[in-house]
Amino acid sequence: MEHVCAVILAAGAGTRMKSEKAKVTHELCGKPMINWVIDAVKEAGATEIIVVTGYQEEQVRRSISENVIFASQKEQLGTGHALMQTLPLLNDQKGACLVLCGDIPLITAQTLRHITEDHISKGRAMTVLTAIVDNPHGYGRIIRDNSGNACRIVEQRDADEKQRNIKEINSGIYCYDIQWLVKSLKKLNNNNEQKEYYLTDTMSIICENGGDIGVISLDNHEEITGINDREQLAAAERILNRRIIKRHMKSGVTFLIPDSCIVEENVSIGADTVIYPGTILKGSTSIDVNCAIGPNCMISDTIVGKNTKVIYSVINQSRIGGDTTVGPFAYLRPGSIIGEKVKIGDFVEIKKSVIGDETKISHLTYVGDAEIGRNVNLGCGVVFVNYDGKVKSKTVVGDNSFIGCNVNLISPVEVKPNSYIAAGSTITDEVPEYSLAIARSRQTIIRDWVKKKGRVRGEKSDN
Ligand code: UD1
Ligand code: CA
Repeated sequence: MEHVCAVILAAGAGTRMKSEKAKVTHELCGKPMINWVIDAVKEAGATEIIVVTGYQEEQVRRSISENVIFASQKEQLGTGHALMQTLPLLNDQKGACLVLCGDIPLITAQTLRHITEDHISKGRAMTVLTAIVDNPHGYGRIIRDNSGNACRIVEQRDADEKQRNIKEINSGIYCYDIQWLVKSLKKLNNNNEQKEYYLTDTMSIICENGGDIGVISLDNHEEITGINDREQLAAAERILNRRIIKRHMKSGVTFLIPDSCIVEENVSIGADTVIYPGTILKGSTSIDVNCAIGPNCMISDTIVGKNTKVIYSVINQSRIGGDTTVGPFAYLRPGSIIGEKVKIGDFVEIKKSVIGDETKISHLTYVGDAEIGRNVNLGCGVVFVNYDGKVKSKTVVGDNSFIGCNVNLISPVEVKPNSYIAAGSTITDEVPEYSLAIARSRQTIIRDWVKKKGRVRGEKSDN
């Protein structure tokens, strides 16, 4: 295929978003709007991508993760004027150029590839993507000549009564022969109602100069819908989310109520995993096969091994081995490395700690800055006292140890393998291997204290 470049227009303000942020930087399924367009264009085969920026230029440029070339449009004098800013880059190029806006995140690579291939194979000067819509208000209308060929686009504001009744609209997505584009841009003027340089005028210019113009009409208008306000942003988010979830379902993942879940673009999920309602999977999260996730989990940038169950839990930047259960109501903070066949039960918080295989942390426990071996049992209410108000210190618990309920481990401290710690102990010193540590005051009984003090509650006392 011949050289294909793309120009994405993103210099406009997008005032209807009512936002401090430039419109195209708003995220959909965890990815800035403009990156959806860039990725689609790239997948469609464009090898050089030029993004025209202007309004909040720095912010827009920073939001783009891909390798693109930037052109600056200092003043927003229209879509044609935006394209003119790329002339120094396009002047000497040959091949095809896709042109589209940065605010149409629903456009698919498939559609862009279709228009590009059709354009190139027919050797046209320009190909425009159109749609027939019931309510064409606001869009440019496609004007066809007597033989039915598209020859001109008239903007809503410049259209007469008859033209406004035309239901075939300009999607704002085009494929040009680069040299035809360059020549026609040089002839643009701003003789119109908005005093703008309209990119759409390139069509009549090309037509008058004998260039071939093609039209591809889309059945699915969804793809060309621009995002202008928060309502459209939400609607597009939903569509993209459905597309992502559909892809996972196709590859063997079960979603009980797909619309109740949010799955970001870069998440991977293995076959036979079941995603229960209310689950949010973000960032570079990767879930292996045959897991059960949810209901109501939020998992970000985390790797989960096969056959693992996570219920009602929040997990960030962690790694969980296979055949493990997490939750209900567990909170794994960044740097939690959980082994295989581990049990992390209810109301357990883990931060920056390594937990060995087959270890059980069943309930009400805080583990921070710790290294816990395999087959360890942490009783209910164990607290790793990792912070003295100034520095955070590390605790090491060896394999096969048993930590009783309500033990405080004052770090830095080490519990050697195969040891036991009695419930309620506050451990400040190393516990040697095969030993029992008890660190609590002995119980004292004061007989009949209650009666003597007249403190009996409930039933009557003898005296
Ligand atoms: C444009 C088309 C219209 C089409 C519609 C589809 C023109 C003249 N009209 O109208 O035929 O039906 O898109 O949505 O092209 N932009 C810049 N610099 C500028 C002006 C705009 O970068 O100086 C960018 C904006 O950021 C925006 C895009 O171009 O993403 C479209 O601009 P806008 O002014 O909204 O054009 P429309 O009126 O929608
Ligand atoms: Ca628009």
